[in-house]
This record gives sequence, structure tokens and C-alpha cells, in this order.
Amino acid sequence: MSGLESLLDRNALWAKHKVEENASFFSQLAQQQTPKYLWIGCSDSRVPATQVLDLPPGEVFVHRNIANLVVHSDMSCLSVIQYAVEVLQVEHIIVCGHYGCGGVKAVLDGGDHGMIDNWLGHIKDVQRLNSEHLSQLEGDERFDKLCELNVQEQVRNVCNTTVVKNAWKKRKSLTIHGWVYSLSDGILKELCCNRG
Ligand code: CO
Repeated sequence: MSGLESLLDRNALWAKHKVEENASFFSQLAQQQTPKYLWIGCSDSRVPATQVLDLPPGEVFVHRNIANLVVHSDMSCLSVIQYAVEVLQVEHIIVCGHYGCGGVKAVLDGGDHGMIDNWLGHIKDVQRLNSEHLSQLEGDERFDKLCELNVQEQVRNVCNTTVVKNAWKKRKSLTIHGWVYSLSDGILKELCCNRG
């Protein structure tokens, strides 16, 4: 695939196939979105939310950034969480990391990556908080573990947002899940789950 023209051609063909399958596919979706899930994942091109969940457009509200981080002062992520919980009324928030995450690897490898190191500093915090545990592991084991610990820490951060705390105070049904995705076999694994 090369050039933007081929992307537009692919889009036209895709839209045509969708209408052939279901004539009202787009007219229904255009009216409203009623996703049941908020997915907070890594920007990595190999972990697209709807595709790995085998769900069609309209089923998942998505926020992605490098290394699936939930930072207490990140207005973009916090706004997505608020909209998902208070307006869309999702009952599940999934924080999904993945093994082989480049952001996590950059932290483990150390060195200077420029501006992005400011963002990766949040993973460094996770590394420091778990330094005793991580120091007992080596190579891929340590890499995999930090990918998992990062997800668990971000789940904790989601639980600590005012939006989620308020939802739980109002006895809303809202579960925060921590998952990790394996690039090598396409399988999602649950790491933790918090119902408030
Ligand atoms: Co990643």
C-alpha cells in the first residue's frame, strides 16, 4: 500500500461492502453511539481496540497514547474518561497494555530519547515503585513484568480519578479492568479488575 489515494480507494470499497452487508449500517451509526466499553490502550499500530476485540464501529470508545498511560493531569485522557462514564454511561473501562511495548522498552534501555522522555517518566515511576521486584528478573521476564506492572498502575490511576470515584460514590456499576495483549499470539490476558 502506498500513497493516500490507495487509502481513499480502500475506504470507498470498505464503505460499499458495509452497505452491501447491511443497508442501514451507516444511517444507524450516524444517529448515535452507544459503546459499552472505554478502551485505554497504547498507540502501537499492532493493538487496534475494535479489531482485537472483533467488534464493529460503534462498540468501543477509545483513548490511546504511548504506553497506555493515565496521568492525573492529562486533560485529554481525563476528558475521555468523564465523557465515557457520565455521558455514554459505559460500565467497563479497560486499560490494555501489551508485551513488547516500545515505550516500556525505552525506559528499560535507558538513554536519551528527547522530548518523549518527559512522557516516559511516568513509566520510570512505575519502575522505581517496583524496583525490588523487577531487580529479581532479567531480560524478557523483566520487560514483560514492567509491561504488566504499568497496566496495573494505570488501572490504579483510573480508579483514583474524580470521575470514577464519584461514579462509585453514586453506586454506579463501573468496573475497571487491566489487560495485557500478546503481539505474538493475539491473545488478551486479564491482570486485575476493580469494582470500587
Ligand atoms: Co506500546
